[in-house]
Amino acid sequence: MRVERVLLKDYTTLGVGGPAELWTVETQEDLLKATEAPYRVLGNGSNLLVMDEGVPERVLRLAGEFATYDLKGWVGAGVLLPLLVQETARQGFSGLEGLLGIPAQVGGAVKMNAGTRFGEVADALEAVEIFHEGRFHVYLPQELGFGYRQSRLPPGGIVTRVRLKLKERPLEEIRRRMAEVDAARKGQPKRKSAGCAFKNPPGHSAGRLIDERGLKGLRVGDAMVSLEHGNFIVNLGKATAKDVVELLKRIQEELPLELEWEVWP
Ligand code: FAD
Ligand code: EPU
Repeated sequence: MRVERVLLKDYTTLGVGGPAELWTVETQEDLLKATEAPYRVLGNGSNLLVMDEGVPERVLRLAGEFATYDLKGWVGAGVLLPLLVQETARQGFSGLEGLLGIPAQVGGAVKMNAGTRFGEVADALEAVEIFHEGRFHVYLPQELGFGYRQSRLPPGGIVTRVRLKLKERPLEEIRRRMAEVDAARKGQPKRKSAGCAFKNPPGHSAGRLIDERGLKGLRVGDAMVSLEHGNFIVNLGKATAKDVVELLKRIQEELPLELEWEVWP
């Protein structure tokens, strides 16, 4: 196990966040040790806004045995979802195409029930292994309270492995579906971001609402409402969490939107 002081801006896709102690957990033994004191779990950092002051708790990152996979068996929570989407397709399995383009780790994708209008993680799960209170427990997806971009994991629960629900399908059919999902993402920015900042209100697109209010291009420091998609806040280079918080506040003064991101601490 590696324990190091890091800046979380180097571990989040938005590129924002202060210091923390990063525990890279590679074995079950590591996991037991790392969870002896208060902790948070970091996935791929693609749905996080971490404050500039950083976080006082240990930040756990799954690697080693938690980042290996067998598509017909258990898949580690530390595996990158984009890799899994490509690999399942390559091996002729259907079930994850709708998740194309989501830069999560499997564990973070489960926690957020990440998805697109083509499908969400909960639909692709057969079972989820969660470590809590010092033991591993296996859950069925219907036990985990999945909803739109949310789940109800046991308190302090760490997703360690999942079993996927996949079907063998002709490669051509899988590729066609992936191309469709890819096309639907074309309007999303390539710059540093944490995906959509706000949840879509029922029946509406937060991005469209922000766009219609003329808020695209609104900027605080190096944090800016993307010109391409209103629900993305992009880091133009040196944005701080303070910049991002101020920008979120200005948007929420105009529109009553609920944040999709998780804020640390
Ligand atoms: P993190 O951001 O690291 O963490 C998010 C939460 O999950 C935290 O609470 C963390 O503690 C928890 N967590 C992480 N790993 C574990 C674990 N092993 N066990 C328990 N809890 C854990 N999201 C969508 O839903 N749809 C999209 O189309 C989409 N597109 C995106 C596009 C871009 C360019 C970006 C940057 C983001 C996008 N997102 C999208 C947002 C983001 O990818 C998802 O919310 C994703 O599920 C976050 O996963 P992560 O591994 O990065 O988790
Ligand atoms: N639109 C605008 N202006 C904008 C943005 C969007 O007019 O600035 C319009 C689009 O033209 C489209 C409609 O609004 O007609 C919906 O836009 P889009 O297809 O981009 O979908 P979205 O509702 O904004 C949702 C998810 C995305 C996911 C896409 C694709 C949420 C909050 N967002 O976006 O997920 O990738 O659908 O399925 O649910 C995320 O959760 O982080 C995320 C990126």
